[in-house]
Amino acid sequence: MLKIIFFGDITGEPGRKAIKQILPGLLKSEQPDLVLANVENLAHGKGVTVKTLEELIRAGIQAFTGGNHIFSKKELSDEALNKYADRLVRPANIPETYAGQAAIVVDTPKGKVLIGNFLGSVFMENQFHDPIDSVFGMIESWLKTYKTSEIKATLVDFHAEATSEKVAFGYFLDGRVSAVLGTHTHIPTADAKVLPGGTAYITDVGMCGAAGSVLGVKKELSLARFTTGNRVAFDIPEDVSKVEISYVMIMIDEATGQASEIEAQHSIVDSKP
Ligand SMILES: [Fe+2]
Ligand SMILES: [Fe+2]
Repeated sequence: MLKIIFFGDITGEPGRKAIKQILPGLLKSEQPDLVLANVENLAHGKGVTVKTLEELIRAGIQAFTGGNHIFSKKELSDEALNKYADRLVRPANIPETYAGQAAIVVDTPKGKVLIGNFLGSVFMENQFHDPIDSVFGMIESWLKTYKTSEIKATLVDFHAEATSEKVAFGYFLDGRVSAVLGTHTHIPTADAKVLPGGTAYITDVGMCGAAGSVLGVKKELSLARFTTGNRVAFDIPEDVSKVEISYVMIMIDEATGQASEIEAQHSIVDSKP
């Protein structure tokens, strides 16, 4: 059995710090074959940098997925996407001109795992200059290109807002991939399950970020945006004492590529100074 842990969007310093704090214990108790995380908000809530990604690599996370914010640090994000092209996958359904990889393959003790990242189209603000492709239209060719005979398991991070689109995409891929894990909303959902065809599914894994925030952002700033209607710039809280940690643990039979179990974990941990 291939055991995978996947952390929801690690948001800024509070998320990185808490992950570094809890991961050693989790690696010891669970002995996962592969540890993954969504990192679109890793560097102060927007995008990734080489430095922040390396913090997580040192902590024991092997590979990473992105989302609509993955390029937000511009040159710095591109540098991280290029330097860690073998570990960090960006959305596949955006124009090819963007930096980074549309798929990655990671080696584990139980064989090769293919990882993909896709953006939803419903209620998603399009931050790309060209229209993004609907996943339902492009996933067949993605699978054909990357899911080769040597792949033992395939994991898809579906980065989307609308629950309906996420549930539908899970059923669309049921039996064809090992797991479809939703990200982007930062709110964990209580619907982790293995679908009839053997695909582990959850609508949203949730986030690893400041508790008492709005999706990882200082709540005062988010409230100001809603109450005034002004485009108030967001910021990440510092020196937080409590951090939300959300992840899923999946068991996959490497002989068939089918999942047998998915367990979602949500907790609030004390952030040590
Ligand atoms: Fe996010
Ligand atoms: Fe996002």
